[in-house]
Amino acid sequence: MPRSVTVPNVLASKNHRRLVMITAYDAPTARWAENAGVDMLLVGDSLAMVVLGHDTTLAVTMEEMLHHARAVMRAQSRCLVVGDLPFGTYQDSVAGAVRAGVRYLKEGGVHAVKLEGVWPDRVEALVAAGVPVMGHLGLTPQSVHAFGGYRVQGKTVDAAKAMIAHARELEDAGCFSVVLEGVPAEVAAEVTNAVKMPTIGIGAGPGCDGQVLVIHDLLGMSPPPRPRFVSPYAMLGEAAEAAIAHWARDVRDGHVPTAAQSYHLNEDAARRWRQITKGEA
Ligand code: KIV
Repeated sequence: MPRSVTVPNVLASKNHRRLVMITAYDAPTARWAENAGVDMLLVGDSLAMVVLGHDTTLAVTMEEMLHHARAVMRAQSRCLVVGDLPFGTYQDSVAGAVRAGVRYLKEGGVHAVKLEGVWPDRVEALVAAGVPVMGHLGLTPQSVHAFGGYRVQGKTVDAAKAMIAHARELEDAGCFSVVLEGVPAEVAAEVTNAVKMPTIGIGAGPGCDGQVLVIHDLLGMSPPPRPRFVSPYAMLGEAAEAAIAHWARDVRDGHVPTAAQSYHLNEDAARRWRQITKGEA
């Protein structure tokens, strides 16, 4: 990948290299991902669930997304950073979508936004305003209640055909890429063949042009149950709990802080201090 990943680079990567994207919500996660060499960071609205403790992504606000986007932007210099437009910021009107997208780039500093579902008029208007847009089809979590749960989408022939049509609509409207989430592998591969923009899969099999994961899932920081497409590459949650428990034991047993971990007076001040505290003045 070139030094700085840009929207044109991502478009040009189709059929040349597989794209790697991961969520980041703050400076440490952005730094880890960038140092690890990923192409794109997603300030995902999964923030609501994995960081803020909500049950769904619906509650997260634009202010919260901007707050976290700024932290990500301070810690990275090479990745393409995409910010999720939160639920309620683009559904009501084209003008509202443009306002939210422009605000994201202006106040959050991200390079592009992502929105869920089939909104070609919003995509066109955002792109015309200079805001690059990534689409998101399939199991779009902001529609969890409409779907009746987190259910794989595109499982019938009609639904699969509709998904291909929707991906084309998003591409024609100007999306530079599209996330396919919770989609049968055969269908995601066909969507990938049907469009020129790269597809980024999550729970959508190996036939996509790239893959994205929630960093807390990849690093074993989210509690089970885990979706079948998540095989943690580390168990940081368990490691963190063990480290905190170890330190708590050491504090209770009086093992920390040690003399070496403490600050001390210089020799002269220490001698005078001893005289004062022991009444030897
Ligand atoms: O919010 C998010 O983390 C996402 C990914 C699951 C693609 O949208």
